[in-house]
Amino acid sequence: MRFILDGSVFDRERSAESLRKIVRDWDDRGFGLFAVEVRGSGEMIGWAGLSVPAFLPEVLPAVEIGWRLARHAWGNGYATEAAGAALRFGFGAAGLDRVISIRHVDNVRSERVMQKLGFVHEFDTVVPGHGQPVAVHAISAGG
Ligand SMILES: CC(C)(COP(=O)(O)OP(=O)(O)OC[C@H]1O[C@@H](n2cnc3c(N)ncnc32)[C@H](O)[C@@H]1OP(=O)(O)O)[C@@H](O)C(=O)NCCC(=O)NCCS
Repeated sequence: MRFILDGSVFDRERSAESLRKIVRDWDDRGFGLFAVEVRGSGEMIGWAGLSVPAFLPEVLPAVEIGWRLARHAWGNGYATEAAGAALRFGFGAAGLDRVISIRHVDNVRSERVMQKLGFVHEFDTVVPGHGQPVAVHAISAGG
C-alpha cells in the first residue's frame, strides 16, 4: 500500500466500502475489477481490472487498468496474466479504444507489468491532494 493513495492500509470497514464500490462500478459502467484466482487451487489472491481514475482529474475522461495482489503471490507473472485478460475484455466486450495505467514513479514492479503488457510511458505528474509523483502510461486498441 505504500505506493497507493496516501500509503495507509485499509481497515475492514474501508475494505468493505471499497468492495461495495467495485460491485457498483460493474453495475454502472459495464466494466470493473476482476477477482484474481489461482487456477488449480482457486485461492483468491487479489484483483486486476478497469476503473475510472477520478483521483487524477487531468487525465479524464479515461479508463485505467490496475492490479493489487497479496504479497505471497508476487513474482509468478499473475498480475501480467490477469491484467492481460482484463485488457482484452476492455478492448473487446467493453468496447474501449484506449486504456491508461498510473503508477507511483518508484513502483518498478508495476512499471515492469506495464511494459510487458505493451503500455507506453506518456508523462509524469503529481496527484492533487496526496502530492504523489506518478507516471502515466497508455495503450490503444490494436497495440
Ligand atoms: C505490482 C504487482 C501487482 C505485481 O504482481 P506480480 O504478479 O508479481 O507481477 P508479475 O510477476 O506479472 O510481473 C512483475 C515484474 O516485475 C519485476 N520485478 C519484481 N521486483 C522488481 C524490482 N524490485 N525491480 C524491478 N523489477 C522487479 C519481476 O521480475 C517481473 O518482471 P519479469 O517478468 O520481467 O521478471 C504486485 O507487486 C502488487 O500487488 N503490488 C502492490 C500493489 C501495487 O503496487 N499495485 C499497483 C499500483 S500502480
